Amino acid sequence: EEGLHATAYPWEHEKWFRTFDHAALRRGFQVYREVCASCHSLSRIPYRSLVGTILTVDEAKALAEENEYDTEPNEEGDIEKRPGKLSDYLPAPYKNDEAARAANQGALPPDLSLIVKARHGGCNYIFSLLTGYPEEPPVGASVQEGLNFNPYFPGTGIAMARVLYDGLVEYEDGTSATTSQMAKDVVEFLNWSAEPEMDERKKMGWKVLAASGVLFTLSIWLKRYKWSPLK
Ligand code: HEM
Repeated sequence: EEGLHATAYPWEHEKWFRTFDHAALRRGFQVYREVCASCHSLSRIPYRSLVGTILTVDEAKALAEENEYDTEPNEEGDIEKRPGKLSDYLPAPYKNDEAARAANQGALPPDLSLIVKARHGGCNYIFSLLTGYPEEPPVGASVQEGLNFNPYFPGTGIAMARVLYDGLVEYEDGTSATTSQMAKDVVEFLNWSAEPEMDERKKMGWKVLAASGVLFTLSIWLKRYKWSPLK
């Protein structure tokens, strides 16, 4: 059963001549960390990949050091704990899927690294999902015990309750943290996590176009030059 079709929003970063808005990514990462990370992992993202686009080196290092990671086993085979470093990956909230399900009434919060690519509707779907919980399910809708009504979720009964509420986080850049602002920011961040190379790809595209233009013009000139005696 398909969910309600998501509204198409004019995402700036989806335009072919625009890159990600780095301030939005920074806010979106804050939302992920403060809201989503307690249930969802982001397993493909190492701290180092946040440097430059989202955090400064010092911020990323400090964040990594807040978590403990296992050391390589030593000669005796013992594994110890060490503080995180830039090459480590963001920590998962649960030890394994079983623990994740046990904490969420049997439902598994999916890893969010590639979710924007994995779900039909991408950014529009996730934004609609996060902002689409009605106060009350519509009259006549049947919602299974333990599930929450959301018209955008296929089947309309979702194990995740509404998580975003106005003012839930405090943005350091003064942006007002409304539900829709946080949803927009976290969706842009999740799109970045699914394709962190997008900015580079678009910039490279421009260079390829410029270089091709030069070579094409040169080839026309050369052709005319070579053939001019035969005119
Ligand atoms: C599912 C995003 C916070 C628990 C999902 C899905 C997305 C998502 C995209 C997949 C929906 C689908 O399958 O189509 C987010 C974001 C969050 C957030 C962006 C932060 C803003 C949370 C939190 C919890 C949670 C805090 C736990 C308290 C779950 C669970 C599911 C889920 C259990 C599986 C739902 C089901 O299959 O019925 N979330 N989530 N999420 N989320 Fe979240």
